[in-house]
Amino acid sequence: MGHLIAPSLLAADFGNLARDVQMVEASQADWHHIDVMDGMFVPNISFGMPVIEAIGRHADKPMDVHLMIEAPDRYISHFAALGAHVLTVHAEACTHLHRTLHAIKEAGMRPGVALNPHTPIHVLEEVCHDLDLVCLMSVNPGFGGQKFIPGTFDKVRRLADLRTSKGADFLIEIDGGVGDQNAAQLVGAGADVLVAGSSVFKASDPLQAVARLKSLETENA
Ligand code: DX5
Ligand code: ZN
Repeated sequence: MGHLIAPSLLAADFGNLARDVQMVEASQADWHHIDVMDGMFVPNISFGMPVIEAIGRHADKPMDVHLMIEAPDRYISHFAALGAHVLTVHAEACTHLHRTLHAIKEAGMRPGVALNPHTPIHVLEEVCHDLDLVCLMSVNPGFGGQKFIPGTFDKVRRLADLRTSKGADFLIEIDGGVGDQNAAQLVGAGADVLVAGSSVFKASDPLQAVARLKSLETENA
């Protein structure tokens, strides 16, 4: 399987949300990445259920929902009802991560776990067979348009090694500051899904920006 591209709608023009969702639909992108922020787990508040419902009305491609919220268990059934395909929670926000992942699966979604830049990958050792996706944050979550943290390259390699040694088969997703300058190296290091906000929506030609990210010449990392 080649790598997947998930444009982050956080960087869309919310005044023209349907148009921007349709751009992603028309592009070579694979998923819609949807960032939910509660002003507690992260300093920023993004959007919630009514906006995701509106996105869903225009989206046929899967919705990859990234929850940057405290106690996400409260809302699992809501996101299932909205049609989320992947539901990703932060390890740092879940006291009972194993229980949360199983609740997501039982609600009919694919469970993901996101790790902040400071969180070591070993927190996943005991749950790596219970999840379908690991999202490595390559910025501190809360805002689009931040600078990529270079230590992520090595973290991707170590996560890919952990996956092999455990015989697990989750996807590795990278989120934050991803663009032409690092995409090929990330895929070379083992990334399966690239989230891209600013580098797609702020590009002069977003369709072309997605096409470039999708058709990388993979470099050896
Ligand atoms: C950051 C979000 C990201 C963000 C990425 O907290 O999780 O998905 O939208 O935006 P860029 O690609 O602009 O860093
Ligand atoms: Zn995100």
